[in-house]
Amino acid sequence: MYKKLERNAPCWCGSGKKYKKCHQNFDEKIITFEQAGHIVPDRSLIKTPEDVEGIKKSAVINVAVLDEIGDKIREGMSTQEIDDIVMDVTKKMGGIPADLGYQGFPKSVCTSINNEVCHGIPSKDIILKDGDIINVDCSTILNGYFSDSSRMFCIGNVSPEKKKLVDVTKECVEIGIQNVRPWTFLGDMGEAVHKHALSHGYTIVREIGGHGCGNAFHEDPYVSYVSTAGTEMLMVPGMVFTIEPMVNAGTDEIFVDEDNGWTVYTADGKPSAQWEVEVLVTETGCEVLSW
Ligand code: MF3
Ligand code: CO
Repeated sequence: MYKKLERNAPCWCGSGKKYKKCHQNFDEKIITFEQAGHIVPDRSLIKTPEDVEGIKKSAVINVAVLDEIGDKIREGMSTQEIDDIVMDVTKKMGGIPADLGYQGFPKSVCTSINNEVCHGIPSKDIILKDGDIINVDCSTILNGYFSDSSRMFCIGNVSPEKKKLVDVTKECVEIGIQNVRPWTFLGDMGEAVHKHALSHGYTIVREIGGHGCGNAFHEDPYVSYVSTAGTEMLMVPGMVFTIEPMVNAGTDEIFVDEDNGWTVYTADGKPSAQWEVEVLVTETGCEVLSW
Protein backbone atom coordinates (compact mmCIF):
# COMPACT_ATOMS: atom_id res chain seq x y z
CA MET A 1 0.00 0.00 0.00
CA TYR A 2 2.81 2.44 0.88
CA LYS A 3 4.74 3.09 -2.33
CA LYS A 4 8.28 4.26 -1.84
CA LEU A 5 9.55 6.83 -4.28
CA GLU A 6 12.93 6.97 -5.96
CA ARG A 7 15.40 8.50 -3.46
CA ASN A 8 16.05 11.65 -5.49
CA ALA A 9 12.45 12.21 -6.59
CA PRO A 10 10.61 15.21 -5.12
CA CYS A 11 8.89 14.21 -1.87
CA TRP A 12 5.16 13.41 -2.02
CA CYS A 13 4.46 15.94 0.75
CA GLY A 14 4.99 18.95 -1.49
CA SER A 15 7.96 20.33 0.48
CA GLY A 16 10.01 20.52 -2.73
CA LYS A 17 12.79 18.55 -1.00
CA LYS A 18 14.21 15.30 -2.31
CA TYR A 19 12.39 12.23 -1.00
CA LYS A 20 15.54 10.89 0.71
CA LYS A 21 15.94 14.19 2.63
CA CYS A 22 12.25 14.39 3.50
CA HIS A 23 9.75 11.57 4.12
CA GLN A 24 11.75 8.47 3.11
CA ASN A 25 12.63 7.41 6.68
CA PHE A 26 9.11 8.29 7.77
CA ASP A 27 7.61 6.05 5.07
CA GLU A 28 9.97 3.19 5.91
CA LYS A 29 8.94 3.36 9.55
CA ILE A 30 5.26 3.29 8.58
CA ILE A 31 5.83 0.30 6.29
CA THR A 32 7.45 -1.59 9.19
CA PHE A 33 4.30 -1.11 11.26
CA GLU A 34 2.07 -2.02 8.32
CA GLN A 35 4.01 -5.23 7.73
CA ALA A 36 3.59 -6.10 11.40
CA GLY A 37 -0.19 -6.01 10.80
CA HIS A 38 -1.04 -2.60 12.23
CA ILE A 39 -3.48 -0.06 10.82
CA VAL A 40 -1.43 2.83 9.42
CA PRO A 41 -2.56 6.25 8.18
CA ASP A 42 -2.94 6.89 4.50
CA ARG A 43 -0.78 9.70 3.11
CA SER A 44 -3.94 11.80 2.68
CA LEU A 45 -4.15 12.02 6.49
CA ILE A 46 -0.74 13.64 6.87
CA LYS A 47 -1.22 17.41 6.96
CA THR A 48 1.21 19.67 5.11
CA PRO A 49 2.59 22.76 6.91
CA GLU A 50 0.16 24.80 4.79
CA ASP A 51 -2.78 22.68 5.96
CA VAL A 52 -1.70 23.10 9.60
CA GLU A 53 -1.53 26.86 9.19
CA GLY A 54 -5.03 26.88 7.66
CA ILE A 55 -6.48 24.71 10.43
CA LYS A 56 -4.88 26.94 13.09
CA LYS A 57 -6.50 30.04 11.58
CA SER A 58 -9.87 28.30 11.56
CA ALA A 59 -9.29 27.29 15.20
CA VAL A 60 -8.71 30.91 16.22
CA ILE A 61 -12.37 31.52 15.32
CA ASN A 62 -13.60 28.35 16.99
CA VAL A 63 -11.83 29.25 20.25
CA ALA A 64 -13.06 32.87 20.11
CA VAL A 65 -16.65 31.65 19.69
CA LEU A 66 -16.40 29.35 22.71
CA ASP A 67 -14.74 32.12 24.75
CA GLU A 68 -17.61 34.47 23.90
CA ILE A 69 -20.16 31.84 24.90
CA GLY A 70 -18.25 31.34 28.16
CA ASP A 71 -18.62 35.06 28.85
CA LYS A 72 -22.32 35.25 28.01
CA ILE A 73 -23.86 31.94 29.05
CA ARG A 74 -26.22 32.18 32.02
CA GLU A 75 -29.44 30.97 33.59
CA GLY A 76 -32.53 32.09 31.65
CA MET A 77 -30.79 32.17 28.28
CA SER A 78 -32.23 30.08 25.45
CA THR A 79 -30.02 27.72 23.48
CA GLN A 80 -31.13 29.69 20.38
CA GLU A 81 -29.26 32.68 21.86
CA ILE A 82 -26.13 30.50 21.99
CA ASP A 83 -26.68 29.63 18.33
CA ASP A 84 -27.03 33.34 17.52
CA ILE A 85 -23.69 34.10 19.21
CA VAL A 86 -22.00 31.31 17.26
CA MET A 87 -23.31 32.64 13.95
CA ASP A 88 -22.53 36.24 14.83
CA VAL A 89 -18.92 35.78 16.03
CA THR A 90 -18.08 33.23 13.32
CA LYS A 91 -19.39 35.48 10.54
CA LYS A 92 -17.69 38.59 11.89
CA MET A 93 -14.37 36.72 11.89
CA GLY A 94 -14.88 35.53 8.30
CA GLY A 95 -15.76 31.91 8.98
CA ILE A 96 -18.74 29.61 8.45
CA PRO A 97 -20.28 27.41 11.17
CA ALA A 98 -19.56 23.86 9.98
CA ASP A 99 -22.60 22.35 11.68
CA LEU A 100 -25.16 24.41 9.75
CA GLY A 101 -26.65 22.16 7.08
CA TYR A 102 -24.17 19.37 7.81
CA GLN A 103 -26.12 16.24 6.83
CA GLY A 104 -29.21 18.39 7.26
CA PHE A 105 -28.40 19.63 10.80
CA PRO A 106 -30.66 22.70 11.19
CA LYS A 107 -28.51 24.94 13.43
CA SER A 108 -24.97 26.36 13.76
CA VAL A 109 -23.91 24.60 16.95
CA CYS A 110 -24.82 21.63 19.13
CA THR A 111 -26.12 22.36 22.64
CA SER A 112 -26.58 19.25 24.77
CA ILE A 113 -27.97 19.58 28.29
CA ASN A 114 -27.80 17.10 31.23
CA ASN A 115 -28.95 13.67 29.95
CA GLU A 116 -28.39 14.74 26.33
CA VAL A 117 -25.17 13.10 25.16
CA CYS A 118 -24.61 15.11 21.98
CA HIS A 119 -26.22 16.75 18.92
CA GLY A 120 -28.73 18.78 20.92
CA ILE A 121 -30.50 21.28 18.62
CA PRO A 122 -30.66 24.90 19.79
CA SER A 123 -34.16 26.29 20.25
CA LYS A 124 -35.79 29.44 21.58
CA ASP A 125 -37.94 27.15 23.73
CA ILE A 126 -35.01 25.53 25.54
CA ILE A 127 -34.09 27.78 28.49
CA LEU A 128 -31.02 27.19 30.64
CA LYS A 129 -31.95 26.51 34.26
CA ASP A 130 -30.03 26.71 37.53
CA GLY A 131 -28.19 23.40 37.98
CA ASP A 132 -27.95 22.47 34.30
CA ILE A 133 -24.74 21.25 32.71
CA ILE A 134 -24.43 21.96 29.00
CA ASN A 135 -22.00 20.99 26.27
CA VAL A 136 -21.53 23.55 23.50
CA ASP A 137 -19.92 21.83 20.51
CA CYS A 138 -18.69 24.27 17.90
CA SER A 139 -17.07 23.71 14.51
CA THR A 140 -15.77 26.28 12.05
CA ILE A 141 -14.80 26.37 8.38
CA LEU A 142 -12.30 28.99 7.23
CA ASN A 143 -10.88 28.89 3.70
CA GLY A 144 -11.83 25.22 3.48
CA TYR A 145 -10.13 24.29 6.77
CA PHE A 146 -12.09 22.78 9.67
CA SER A 147 -11.76 23.17 13.42
CA ASP A 148 -13.87 21.39 16.00
CA SER A 149 -13.95 21.66 19.80
CA SER A 150 -16.42 21.73 22.65
CA ARG A 151 -16.66 22.76 26.28
CA MET A 152 -18.94 22.13 29.22
CA PHE A 153 -20.58 24.97 31.12
CA CYS A 154 -22.16 24.74 34.57
CA ILE A 155 -25.23 26.95 35.04
CA GLY A 156 -25.64 28.39 38.52
CA ASN A 157 -25.53 25.90 41.39
CA VAL A 158 -24.74 22.51 39.91
CA SER A 159 -24.96 19.38 42.10
CA PRO A 160 -21.62 17.94 43.29
CA GLU A 161 -22.38 14.79 41.25
CA LYS A 162 -22.75 16.70 37.99
CA LYS A 163 -19.77 18.94 38.77
CA LYS A 164 -17.60 15.89 39.32
CA LEU A 165 -18.75 14.35 36.03
CA VAL A 166 -17.81 17.56 34.21
CA ASP A 167 -14.39 17.70 35.91
CA VAL A 168 -13.52 14.04 35.41
CA THR A 169 -14.51 14.28 31.74
CA LYS A 170 -12.11 17.19 31.34
CA GLU A 171 -9.41 15.10 33.01
CA CYS A 172 -10.17 12.33 30.51
CA VAL A 173 -9.36 14.73 27.66
CA GLU A 174 -6.18 15.91 29.41
CA ILE A 175 -5.10 12.29 29.81
CA GLY A 176 -5.92 11.73 26.14
CA ILE A 177 -3.68 14.67 25.19
CA GLN A 178 -0.82 13.28 27.31
CA ASN A 179 -1.18 9.95 25.53
CA VAL A 180 -0.90 11.26 21.98
CA ARG A 181 2.64 10.31 21.02
CA PRO A 182 3.95 9.56 17.55
CA TRP A 183 4.62 5.90 16.72
CA THR A 184 2.15 4.68 19.32
CA PHE A 185 -1.47 3.72 18.71
CA LEU A 186 -4.81 5.44 19.03
CA GLY A 187 -5.83 2.47 21.18
CA ASP A 188 -3.12 3.42 23.71
CA MET A 189 -4.72 6.83 24.06
CA GLY A 190 -8.29 5.48 24.02
CA GLU A 191 -7.57 2.93 26.73
CA ALA A 192 -5.98 5.57 29.00
CA VAL A 193 -9.06 7.80 28.61
CA HIS A 194 -11.43 4.91 29.24
CA LYS A 195 -9.57 3.73 32.36
CA HIS A 196 -9.83 7.17 33.92
CA ALA A 197 -13.60 7.30 33.37
CA LEU A 198 -14.08 3.76 34.67
CA SER A 199 -11.98 4.52 37.77
CA HIS A 200 -14.67 7.02 38.77
CA GLY A 201 -17.52 4.60 38.04
CA TYR A 202 -18.45 6.28 34.77
CA THR A 203 -18.88 4.78 31.29
CA ILE A 204 -17.94 6.06 27.84
CA VAL A 205 -20.23 5.98 24.83
CA ARG A 206 -19.08 3.31 22.38
CA GLU A 207 -20.90 4.20 19.17
CA ILE A 208 -19.83 7.84 18.78
CA GLY A 209 -16.24 9.04 19.07
CA GLY A 210 -13.66 11.35 17.61
CA HIS A 211 -12.42 11.70 14.07
CA GLY A 212 -9.72 13.00 11.83
CA CYS A 213 -10.38 16.65 11.04
CA GLY A 214 -8.94 19.57 9.12
CA ASN A 215 -9.34 19.30 5.36
CA ALA A 216 -12.86 18.00 5.93
CA PHE A 217 -15.18 17.99 8.96
CA HIS A 218 -14.98 14.26 9.57
CA GLU A 219 -11.99 12.39 8.18
CA ASP A 220 -10.46 9.03 9.00
CA PRO A 221 -9.63 7.66 11.48
CA TYR A 222 -12.58 7.03 13.77
CA VAL A 223 -11.24 7.65 17.29
CA SER A 224 -12.68 5.42 20.00
CA TYR A 225 -12.30 5.91 23.75
CA VAL A 226 -13.27 2.35 24.60
CA SER A 227 -10.35 0.92 22.63
CA THR A 228 -7.45 -1.27 23.71
CA ALA A 229 -3.75 -0.38 23.89
CA GLY A 230 -1.73 -1.62 20.92
CA THR A 231 -4.75 -1.55 18.59
CA GLU A 232 -6.31 1.01 16.22
CA MET A 233 -4.39 3.33 13.91
CA LEU A 234 -0.74 4.21 14.36
CA MET A 235 -0.30 7.90 15.28
CA VAL A 236 2.33 9.68 13.18
CA PRO A 237 3.45 13.32 13.01
CA GLY A 238 1.14 15.43 10.84
CA MET A 239 -2.11 13.67 11.71
CA VAL A 240 -4.91 15.86 13.08
CA PHE A 241 -7.86 14.41 15.00
CA THR A 242 -10.24 15.14 17.85
CA ILE A 243 -10.28 13.85 21.41
CA GLU A 244 -13.92 14.02 22.50
CA PRO A 245 -15.08 11.29 24.89
CA MET A 246 -18.76 11.32 25.86
CA VAL A 247 -18.71 10.27 29.51
CA ASN A 248 -21.90 9.01 31.15
CA ALA A 249 -22.65 8.97 34.86
CA GLY A 250 -24.59 5.72 34.43
CA THR A 251 -24.99 3.27 31.59
CA ASP A 252 -23.13 3.70 28.30
CA GLU A 253 -26.35 2.91 26.44
CA ILE A 254 -27.85 5.69 24.36
CA PHE A 255 -30.75 6.36 22.03
CA VAL A 256 -31.50 8.90 19.32
CA ASP A 257 -34.46 11.29 19.40
CA GLU A 258 -37.11 9.82 17.11
CA ASP A 259 -38.70 13.19 16.39
CA ASN A 260 -35.68 15.23 15.33
CA GLY A 261 -33.39 12.37 14.27
CA TRP A 262 -30.38 14.03 15.93
CA THR A 263 -30.30 14.43 19.67
CA VAL A 264 -28.66 11.54 21.50
CA TYR A 265 -29.73 10.77 25.09
CA THR A 266 -28.50 8.45 27.83
CA ALA A 267 -30.76 5.38 28.07
CA ASP A 268 -31.06 5.70 31.87
CA GLY A 269 -31.66 9.46 31.93
CA LYS A 270 -28.49 10.11 33.95
CA PRO A 271 -26.22 13.00 32.94
CA SER A 272 -23.49 12.88 30.31
CA ALA A 273 -20.56 15.23 29.74
CA GLN A 274 -18.11 15.87 26.91
CA TRP A 275 -15.14 18.09 26.23
CA GLU A 276 -13.48 18.13 22.81
CA VAL A 277 -10.09 19.24 21.54
CA GLU A 278 -8.51 19.00 18.11
CA VAL A 279 -4.83 17.95 18.17
CA LEU A 280 -1.90 17.76 15.77
CA VAL A 281 0.52 14.86 16.27
CA THR A 282 4.07 16.25 16.45
CA GLU A 283 7.53 14.67 16.63
CA THR A 284 7.39 14.62 20.43
CA GLY A 285 3.70 14.47 21.38
CA CYS A 286 0.91 16.71 20.22
CA GLU A 287 -0.12 20.31 19.86
CA VAL A 288 -3.66 21.33 20.79
CA LEU A 289 -5.09 23.35 17.88
CA SER A 290 -8.64 23.96 19.11
CA TRP A 291 -10.05 23.59 22.63
N1 MF3 B 1 -19.20 18.77 16.29
C1 MF3 B 1 -19.59 17.36 16.26
C2 MF3 B 1 -18.30 16.56 16.38
O1 MF3 B 1 -17.61 16.78 17.32
C3 MF3 B 1 -20.35 17.05 15.02
C4 MF3 B 1 -21.65 17.72 14.98
S1 MF3 B 1 -22.39 17.37 13.51
C5 MF3 B 1 -23.86 18.21 13.58
O2 MF3 B 1 -17.92 15.77 15.59
F1 MF3 B 1 -24.40 18.07 12.43
F2 MF3 B 1 -24.59 17.68 14.56
F3 MF3 B 1 -23.66 19.46 13.84
CO1 CO C 1 -15.76 16.32 16.63
